[in-house]
Amino acid sequence: MIYSEKVMEHFANPRNIGELEDANGVGEVGNAKCGDIMKMYLKINNGIIEDVKFKTFGCGAAIATSSIATEMIKGKPLDEALKLTNKAVIEALDGLPPAKIHCSVLAEQAVKSAVADYYKRQGIDPTPFVGKIEEHCDTCCEV
Ligand code: FES
Repeated sequence: MIYSEKVMEHFANPRNIGELEDANGVGEVGNAKCGDIMKMYLKINNGIIEDVKFKTFGCGAAIATSSIATEMIKGKPLDEALKLTNKAVIEALDGLPPAKIHCSVLAEQAVKSAVADYYKRQGIDPTPFVGKIEEHCDTCCEV
């Protein structure tokens, strides 16, 4: 399997890895088939993602996609972060092998799940903002 230099670089030096003690939005998603799990911590203030960290129990592509996803949403307003698609993540990494596309879906869904948790903690129904979250995607995995 051939990975781009960017994937290898983010895999070797993941950005924003760890936990956020003062997170006010935490999301966790998993892929039932490969068993990989991704957890995303957000610190949101005035509608802006001030800080973000992640932990991934998963493959190299899951680490690289979540690393670049955190860079793409840090400092952004919530509505922009919610527009982050797995396609944008793949483009930012200069591509992913087809069998690893689902790993980028996990990154997208982890961001959405954390934002949904933030809205829930405010007593707001997240569905109109976040839409449907595939917390246990078992259809997109080809491992
Ligand atoms: Fe399942 Fe990468 S997230 S193999």
